[in-house]
Amino acid sequence: MKIAVSGKGGVGKTLIAGILARMFAKDGFKVLAIDNDSAMNLSYTLGIDDKTKDQIVPIKEMKSMIEERTNVEGAGPGVYNINPNVSDIPDKYKVSGPDGLQLLVLGGIEEPATGCLCPENALIRTLLYNLFVKRDEVIIVDFEAGIEHLGRGTAKGIDVMLVISEPSQKSLDLCKKIIELSKKLGVINIYLVANKITDESQREIINKKIQNWDVPLYHTVPFDPEIGKADLEGKSPIDYNSNSEGIISIMSLFEKLKKLKKELFDL
Ligand SMILES: Nc1ncnc2c1ncn2[C@@H]1O[C@H](COP(=O)(O)OP(=O)(O)O)[C@@H](O)[C@H]1O
Ligand SMILES: [Mg+2]
Repeated sequence: MKIAVSGKGGVGKTLIAGILARMFAKDGFKVLAIDNDSAMNLSYTLGIDDKTKDQIVPIKEMKSMIEERTNVEGAGPGVYNINPNVSDIPDKYKVSGPDGLQLLVLGGIEEPATGCLCPENALIRTLLYNLFVKRDEVIIVDFEAGIEHLGRGTAKGIDVMLVISEPSQKSLDLCKKIIELSKKLGVINIYLVANKITDESQREIINKKIQNWDVPLYHTVPFDPEIGKADLEGKSPIDYNSNSEGIISIMSLFEKLKKLKKELFDL
């Protein structure tokens, strides 16, 4: 199953992607977590040890590898292969984390709006296609705020798009855009998750605001101070306090996704 996590900056994408990855891995699934956010902090939420963390080089920064892969023999400047061979890259550059999970750090991607069609974007795009369409692990991608860089072919490989919102109009507005784009790109299972909820009235307000959307409020995760404490200690929230409200709620999100996985693949 390929799960993409998207939403505005700060809403809790990395938290939810990272903790879900740990839960799938703990449950015995082969998991490959992908960091495609320019903040590149998924390794913290996953609880990757410091030594391994220090060794990580984001794919986007591997200039000579990218040059070699996208090079077109004899071509002049500005000409490069937009469909480079990337099939060996995940296994070559992934690192291992707790519960047997693995992490591949891509780094963020410039939005096409900037007009940048540089070789590293071509490579990362091809890599995402490879990950979504060719791999057989549970893949969980922590995306940058937008998903504009996804092509149709790549997006079709996404089995579940979790769009995360906090209780704010701004973050809901971006969710709406992401949902529309995801639909246009052919993603079928798109679910809204509300995070950092402090009381029932917030949930009611969100439900009211989205009543005309054709995407349900799939899950809510409460605001949980234990998550902030874990952050401050540099620990994964699941290792810091696995019984906190937030982690228990993400566990029930995990159970829903596991059930969905069964429905999608095992019947
Ligand atoms: N449910 C929650 N309760 C308390 N703090 C949270 C919760 N979800 C996220 N946070 C905190 O909010 C900040 C942003 O979360 P993060 O997962 O990094 O967001 P994003 O990846 O969307 O930018 C972090 O400091 C994180 O610890
Ligand atoms: Mg993040």
